[in-house]
Amino acid sequence: MKVTIIGAGNVGASSASLLAQKDIIKKIVLLDVREKLSEGKSLDISQMLPMIKSNTEVIGITNDYSKSENSEIIIITCGIPRKPGMSRDDLVNTNAEIIRTVTKKSILFSPKAKFIIVSNPLDVMAYVSYMTAKVDSSRIIGMAGILDSTRYRFFLSKRLNISPIDIQSLLLGGHGDTMVPLYRYTSVSGIPIKEFLSEEENNAIIEKTKKGGEEIVNLLGTSAWMAPSASVVKIVEAILKDSKRIFPCSAFLKGQYGLKNIYLGVPVILGKSGIEKIIELQLNQKERNLLKTSAHHVQNMIDKLKNF
Ligand code: LAC
Repeated sequence: MKVTIIGAGNVGASSASLLAQKDIIKKIVLLDVREKLSEGKSLDISQMLPMIKSNTEVIGITNDYSKSENSEIIIITCGIPRKPGMSRDDLVNTNAEIIRTVTKKSILFSPKAKFIIVSNPLDVMAYVSYMTAKVDSSRIIGMAGILDSTRYRFFLSKRLNISPIDIQSLLLGGHGDTMVPLYRYTSVSGIPIKEFLSEEENNAIIEKTKKGGEEIVNLLGTSAWMAPSASVVKIVEAILKDSKRIFPCSAFLKGQYGLKNIYLGVPVILGKSGIEKIIELQLNQKERNLLKTSAHHVQNMIDKLKNF
């Protein structure tokens, strides 16, 4: 079992570290264009392995994709992150070029790999990777909804003074201001959220969730990495264990939710082949409208991309 992580920045290195701690992968390749970076980070991660009782081998590679050969999963985290005052959308042209290049190189050496895309703007980058890899869309998965819904659960847990573990939620749409957390599909240990707080009160939590990434960018001067990496691990585990878990992920839509030829956040079943099924919910008019607005926003960015 081999997993390659492209990009040894905060998200890439933290994903490698969290995955190594799980001891479920034989070999993790951490690859970056920057000389010495992935080698240094891998060595640091490797040196904690005896202590954490993990047999995972973690190796750092500077830009040699042949070392990623036959990876089962490729995690793309590279590209520029946001700085304060920037939206995820401001990164689109720079990161599209990077994602195109790394997808091309990765697929050459790992033609059967599943791809987890983490770079922003997420839904557009997943689309770019899919168009470049030219493989079945079940194999290109965008990580966003897990992160956004976990932020929503965390903020709700604080508001309700209830364990975050017991809050379940679902989320649709793009990774950005137009994301659509679903009040109707949120519950606390099976009890509908409406028993705890009104839709209006919940809207304040949704607004906080939408700004969850930005709040961290403003505090740190760069984007978050701990919760994003933990979200990546959830997807990797679901694929490797073929667990059929349901998570919101950015997936290629072929008519589901009335949308086509676009990557957008929807609930999916994850297993050994990647996205095994997209779950289509019966949305009400208001939810449908919010999803449509979100899809419009993502589609606009795709349309503006050069060379597509
Ligand atoms: C965030 C970045 C990773 O939401 O998009 O923190």
